[in-house]
Amino acid sequence: MKILLFGKRGQVGWELQRSLAPLGTIIALDCEGDGELCGDFSDLAGLAACVRSVAPDVIVNAAAHTAVDRAESEPALARTLNALAPGVLADEAGKLGAWLVHYSTDYVFDGSGDSAWRESDRAAPLSVYGQTKLAGERAVAACERHLIFRTSWVYAARGNNFARTMLRLARERDQLQVIADQIGAPTGADLLADVTAHAIRSLGQRPQLAGLYHLAAAGETSWHGYARHVIDFARQAGEVIRVAPAAIEAVPTSAYPLPAPRPHNSRLDTRKLQAAFDLCLPDWQAGVDRMLAEILGQ
Ligand SMILES: NC(=O)c1ccc[n+]([C@@H]2O[C@H](COP(=O)([O-])OP(=O)(O)OC[C@H]3O[C@@H](n4cnc5c(N)ncnc54)[C@H](OP(=O)(O)O)[C@@H]3O)[C@@H](O)[C@H]2O)c1
Repeated sequence: MKILLFGKRGQVGWELQRSLAPLGTIIALDCEGDGELCGDFSDLAGLAACVRSVAPDVIVNAAAHTAVDRAESEPALARTLNALAPGVLADEAGKLGAWLVHYSTDYVFDGSGDSAWRESDRAAPLSVYGQTKLAGERAVAACERHLIFRTSWVYAARGNNFARTMLRLARERDQLQVIADQIGAPTGADLLADVTAHAIRSLGQRPQLAGLYHLAAAGETSWHGYARHVIDFARQAGEVIRVAPAAIEAVPTSAYPLPAPRPHNSRLDTRKLQAAFDLCLPDWQAGVDRMLAEILGQ
């Protein structure tokens, strides 16, 4: 199997390089590309030529404009990277008869209510990022052989993430304020990559599994609950933590105005994915603890 992977340096792209390796030959690109092969999503003609030249069996797209707040002030670029470029991949995949695997987000929902979102629920994004990601989903779904995974609150041990920021602040400050009225499930890039590899393997036998799936770790928390979990873990691991548990204050989203509105309810119902691919998704704490053990060098 020949797999063309875009966004190889991102959180998910990096883990995909590992998880897809046993499936076949991987041509992995970042936005600089590789020789003649263009990996830059702002160059739509170059992207199409790249897919034609590689002629892969599977395209996995982990590249995106993920700077949610910046997208508000650069909507044209966000639309190019999140909607037009995936549309080009869908066109080219369709012509080749290749599979296209793509990632989307809980930000396609408006965050109302407190039930977990089903794949069939109405999307109503609040932000440019969410709107462009929804347009990308629709473009990808035009390719018959597609898999779209909507996920939430992605972290990886590599690079900056929420847990690292909380650990730094907890070492430096006596008091922390963390948002408590956004609810979701922190989901590891490693879990996303492993499920992707499993799903691609399953498609060989069951192409009827093409479609849109919610994919997130099990359980739910707020950013405040997530921060407390991270800091408790570090304290128990013997790290010198300055902030006392009672000094991690729960605050509403309105305490931190940002350019892009965030959904309050980011819960994703993953039953469709678990049933279709015969999977059991682990609790969010399991992956976060593993990542913490890694970054704390345990
Ligand atoms: N992060 C989250 O919390 C979250 C939540 C829900 C869904 N998702 C979705 O999950 C997928 C993977 O996200 P992630 O967290 O792995 O994102 P990430 O770490 O921000 O990685 C994004 C990747 O896109 C690449 N990219 C940016 N501009 C590009 C361009 N012009 N051409 C080609 N590549 C470009 C980046 O390349 P460089 O490194 O070279 O800049 C990077 O490799 C995305 O579809 C995202 O929308 C993420």
